[in-house]
Amino acid sequence: MALRARDIIRECRVLAAFTEEPGFTTRTFLSPPMHGVHGHLRGWMTRLGLQVHIDAAGNLRGRRPASFGDAPTLFIGSHLDSVPRAGAFDGVLGVVLGLALVDLIGPAPLPFAIEVVGFSEEEGVRFSVPFIGSRAMAGTVDEDLLARSDSQGVTVREAIRAFGLDPERIGEVGVNGPAVGYLEFHIEQGPVLDGLGLSVGLVDAIVGLTRGELHFAGRANHAGTTPMTGRRDAAAGAAEWILEVERQGRLVPGLVATVGRIDTTPGATNVIAGDCRCSLDVRHVDDRQRTEAVGSLLAAAERIASARRLTVAWDARLDQPAVSMDSGLVQALERAVEQSGLAPHHMASGAGHDAMIMAQRMRSAMLFLRSPGGISHHPAESVLEDDVAAALQVGRAMVLTLAERHG
Ligand code: HGY
Ligand code: MN
Ligand code: MN
Repeated sequence: MALRARDIIRECRVLAAFTEEPGFTTRTFLSPPMHGVHGHLRGWMTRLGLQVHIDAAGNLRGRRPASFGDAPTLFIGSHLDSVPRAGAFDGVLGVVLGLALVDLIGPAPLPFAIEVVGFSEEEGVRFSVPFIGSRAMAGTVDEDLLARSDSQGVTVREAIRAFGLDPERIGEVGVNGPAVGYLEFHIEQGPVLDGLGLSVGLVDAIVGLTRGELHFAGRANHAGTTPMTGRRDAAAGAAEWILEVERQGRLVPGLVATVGRIDTTPGATNVIAGDCRCSLDVRHVDDRQRTEAVGSLLAAAERIASARRLTVAWDARLDQPAVSMDSGLVQALERAVEQSGLAPHHMASGAGHDAMIMAQRMRSAMLFLRSPGGISHHPAESVLEDDVAAALQVGRAMVLTLAERHG
């Protein structure tokens, strides 16, 4: 019997227990708990009769063949990694809903294959570079990415090998053959649908994002004996700049600018910080506004640093342009929403998603599910049973619409 919404939510919560941090959901790129997630989902995929494999980027892939040979493939997926102390639905829901949809469709012959993909890494937590899994499928992984190392000095290449995979085969991960497109179900992670009282949303575009790290350097010294005047305190300089990030972020409509991580060195109570590293995440649906904002924030960092006799260096980690979803696929999804008796609502995504990478390789579209309270990247993240049931119906109507077009 096909899974009900309640079963889908339960599955997501079961998967949330595979974690690096007992009591929380923390699962970064190919960390040990990802073996548990793969094992749990492989069992289900096999019971569904899918052809299952884990590719060289650690993506879990379950394929439902088409009714004839060289048919195209509809990819349905999302990511299986998480931010630290995450909720149970960001990413995982898109994979579980994809499998529940395959279950709901049953053995009916389709003029395309369906491949459900659980991407190995989207959040960019372990290596400060996101989208490793979908970049491998889109064929855009390069040597720079494979050589990037985490806080323990382990490279992406070594992490893949430690997981039991062969990084030298990452070139084989790319999508070969014709694609119907890529469909991603994902929680909105913001307050819009909840505010409007809507179950689902149609994503027209995903905002562009800049990520990187600012390194303020001054001079460590004794906290007790060094007079306040004349200090070269890297943490104080960073603090002044962080308030400027917030001030400028508030000035530009539609801009968000965030410092989520601050690390001081040597990081002792009684030592003035000689170094302070801060992350920076800037987003806007208009790439020109985003890059102008980043330029202005870097100029502010230089100004603040020089006034305090500090140096400052910028390490750019990601410059991801805004991506529009495929209008034809969004229209088909809109029709499926209407056929499911729901009000279509078009919106932009303030969060980044694998769809923005897959869109480089094939037509892509996303269906958002309401985030109650607009909460995400937090253990209180949730979804409503009725909204999950609605999304499943939309997914079924979408597959039938695509089957008509490709039949
Ligand atoms: O950070 C993001 O926008 C997404 O949750 N990875
Ligand atoms: Mn996320
Ligand atoms: Mn996500």
